[in-house]
Amino acid sequence: MDRIIIQGGVPLQGRIQVSGAKNAALPLMAATLLTDQAIELSNVPDVADVATMQRLLQRLGTGSTMQPGAPGTLQLQTSSLMSTTAPYDLVRKMRASVLVLGPMLARQGEATVSLPGGCAIGTRPIDLHLMGLERMGAVIELEQGYVKATAPKGLKGAEIKLPQPSVGATENILMAASLADGDTVILDAAQEPEIVDLAALLTAMGAEIEGAGTGVLRVRGRSSLGGASHRIIADRIEAGTYAMAAGITAGHLHLEGVKSEHLGVAAERLEEAGLVLEDVAEGLSVKVAEGGLKGVDVMTRPFPGFATDLQAQFMALMCMANGASMITETIFENRFMHVPELARMGARITVHGGSALVRGQSRLTGAPVMATDLRASVSLVLAGLAAEGPTTVNRVYHLDRGYERLEEKLRGVGARIERAG
Ligand code: EPZ
Repeated sequence: MDRIIIQGGVPLQGRIQVSGAKNAALPLMAATLLTDQAIELSNVPDVADVATMQRLLQRLGTGSTMQPGAPGTLQLQTSSLMSTTAPYDLVRKMRASVLVLGPMLARQGEATVSLPGGCAIGTRPIDLHLMGLERMGAVIELEQGYVKATAPKGLKGAEIKLPQPSVGATENILMAASLADGDTVILDAAQEPEIVDLAALLTAMGAEIEGAGTGVLRVRGRSSLGGASHRIIADRIEAGTYAMAAGITAGHLHLEGVKSEHLGVAAERLEEAGLVLEDVAEGLSVKVAEGGLKGVDVMTRPFPGFATDLQAQFMALMCMANGASMITETIFENRFMHVPELARMGARITVHGGSALVRGQSRLTGAPVMATDLRASVSLVLAGLAAEGPTTVNRVYHLDRGYERLEEKLRGVGARIERAG
């Protein structure tokens, strides 16, 4: 099994091209099931989760080809659905597989999707996805670990109030509503930029959507949707991760393809923590201010709040700050798995329920570490970049799920990092 070995202590300097957003690519790929026409997606990141979604779509009948000579451009077409079942072996690998439920149900009147089960960061139920589709007239049954959804007379527009803004539920409902009969209103919808990107593709396919990026989404359903070409937005989480790599190594990076506004509240917190973020012509320049890193409290919230997907990386950064930081996780109940691993590298962190108190100015030393999810794993890479001595990050497949060419990008800005089999 692959490992990543890092010799820390090098201030990173140079340019990193930010990839297309994994968490936009996955719903956009699922949305292509809504039409029999071809959809061309560009800026698709070459990460394992995208390959898993491609495999799932292929099983359902989607032809997908990378466009020759145009890296990251994927053409997808589902002339007809060969199957409406998303099997357990793929769904358990990647929870975002449940995003095929809404589109298949809307197009074919039936869909069977394995229940994903819990995952390392929390129980992560899909009850809100199902509630939304039921409100639109779907009949949902649970059979042998599978959700079997049917809508023999098609889906009908409805008013759906989410008790909390779920990204995945908003996406599943939005896709289904685009091909439903009548108008749908989603109240307390998620407002993430990835939702806005999905709405942009659906609009290009012919859907009528208002309010993307706000808490109220209004969708006028269409009887059919057509082909489109769409460029996926930059990955704000990857950008935030590399911004913190600049901070934790006291380096200076130019992140190409993003602006500070893409980071939402995280940009403000990073500036309070002592990073200087400056929008420049080709992207975002990030370095540490003269006073150095400072301890700052953060609480994860749905967008535009501080992203849970940046929490682990921020914790690694705060290990090096002057002063303490209280980091509170409110989205997932088990997203502190990086804490004991960071502690093995010398971090001083105490967890009380959903909050972690990080005492700064740690002297991090390299160690063999591992983590059980993507963002926790990358936080250990950040810690390794700042640590004295070698750090070996095991279970690299977590990183490969969501970071395109991680070692190559970091090596390009001076990091001593390599992969070993
Ligand atoms: C998306 O997951 C992202 N995944 C996650 O990124 C991200 O952490 C999360 O949004 C929050 O920003 C993708 O976009 C593919 P949610 P999702 O539904 O849609 C609860 C990464 O590292 N909930 O917004 O699954 C849920 O348990 C990943 O790239 C229900 O209770 O997240 C959580 O507490 C990890 N019932 C909260 O809502 C439901 O039916 C928010 O989850 C759905 C969600």
